[in-house]
Amino acid sequence: MKKLTILGATGTIGLNTLDVVARNRDRFDVFALTANTNHERLAEQCAEWQPRFAVMADGPSAQRLRDALENRCKNTEVLDGVKGLEQVAGSSEVDFVMAGIVGAAGLLPSLAAAKAGKRVLLANKEALVMSGRLFIDAVRDNGAELLPIDSEHNAIFQCLPVNHHGSLERGGIRRILLTASGGPFRESSPADLAGVTPEQACAHPNWVMGRKISVDSATMMNKGLELIEACWLFDTTPERVNVMIHPQSIVHSMVEYDDGSVLAQLGNPDMRTPIAHALSWPERMQSGVDSLDLAAIGDLSFEAPDMQRFPCLRLGFEAAAAGGAASATLNAANEVAVAAFLERRIRFTDIARLLESALEEHPGGEPASLDEVLAIDAAARRRASEQIARLAA
Ligand SMILES: NC(=O)c1ccc[n+]([C@@H]2O[C@H](COP(=O)([O-])OP(=O)(O)OC[C@H]3O[C@@H](n4cnc5c(N)ncnc54)[C@H](OP(=O)(O)O)[C@@H]3O)[C@@H](O)[C@H]2O)c1
Repeated sequence: MKKLTILGATGTIGLNTLDVVARNRDRFDVFALTANTNHERLAEQCAEWQPRFAVMADGPSAQRLRDALENRCKNTEVLDGVKGLEQVAGSSEVDFVMAGIVGAAGLLPSLAAAKAGKRVLLANKEALVMSGRLFIDAVRDNGAELLPIDSEHNAIFQCLPVNHHGSLERGGIRRILLTASGGPFRESSPADLAGVTPEQACAHPNWVMGRKISVDSATMMNKGLELIEACWLFDTTPERVNVMIHPQSIVHSMVEYDDGSVLAQLGNPDMRTPIAHALSWPERMQSGVDSLDLAAIGDLSFEAPDMQRFPCLRLGFEAAAAGGAASATLNAANEVAVAAFLERRIRFTDIARLLESALEEHPGGEPASLDEVLAIDAAARRRASEQIARLAA
């Protein structure tokens, strides 16, 4: 039995993780579940899973959860705040940590899991984009295992040589082919994009996801963040990563070897596959995902991305080449811009404009400490908020 903490249990990744765990109850013991403010859903999950700990982001939400759990979960202790998240991520009793919080809020608990030498199942790409080198060093120095949950990176992991370590070059790998669905606006004209609503941006054609990553997919910033994530995870440079539009989301990514062989991982677009893979690795287990019916799908198509229509993808490449400070700046400005778009304070097309000017002001170089990362993040958020206030005025 592996003891599991699920950070962000109430989100899309958290729900999919619990679905997979429910199919494999003999293998996992749910140690802790966490949420931001959704105490109703977390209370339901605690009633079913009876975890040792439940964590809410703040004190008032934690009190609401305690009230809801009275008489239902006698053995569940409710904690709150970042300290509580770090405690359940780094506890000596835990084996695996699903990093399923969205955005920068996931950095400290994900890092706590890495520093405590856990198997970290990384969905929270923003944590790695922000802290790159520091995160990877924490994994290496503390004997943690970092397994990617993003379907693309999980696919790449599966296509790499068994026990591959170090740079791609050392594995005889020419390049990574990172696939992207192209999102809901792949065929929209640039003129139409200005009027896009949050509802339209969140209606992804292939995947059911949280609102922030859905908007990121629509702007293709998600692929820009994934490019940066891929460079850190697989110890490579942006030149060795090709982004390929694949509207069907069946090929989740590919690895090309020096001899010209290309290995791909295919499957239905369902996050339970990468989650089950990372939970059971190096074995396999049931995920509940249907068999792939290629005859019914018929065609798999590929095309080059349009960097003019989707400038956020270009900005991802620029940040990846410029280094960690640029990536942290881009990530922070993006979180602020996406939140403002979802609150209808700016237009969809303003997101890319804001990010373009955010990147012009990044401090450069590689942050040497966590404090430096957090300072870069705070400064980029402040500048983006000021710009949004001016736009909205
Ligand atoms: N969904 C996917 O298919 C998918 C695929 C690949 C990668 N990812 C990545 O996985 C992560 C999660 O995505 P998602 O789609 O599952 O997001 P989501 O549905 O919005 O869920 C986010 C989770 O994080 C919690 N949370 C939000 N803000 C928090 C804070 N300040 N402090 C503590 N907890 C907080 C939420 O709690 P409440 O419910 O209380 O708000 C919820 O449990 C993201 O980094 C995303 O890029 C997602």
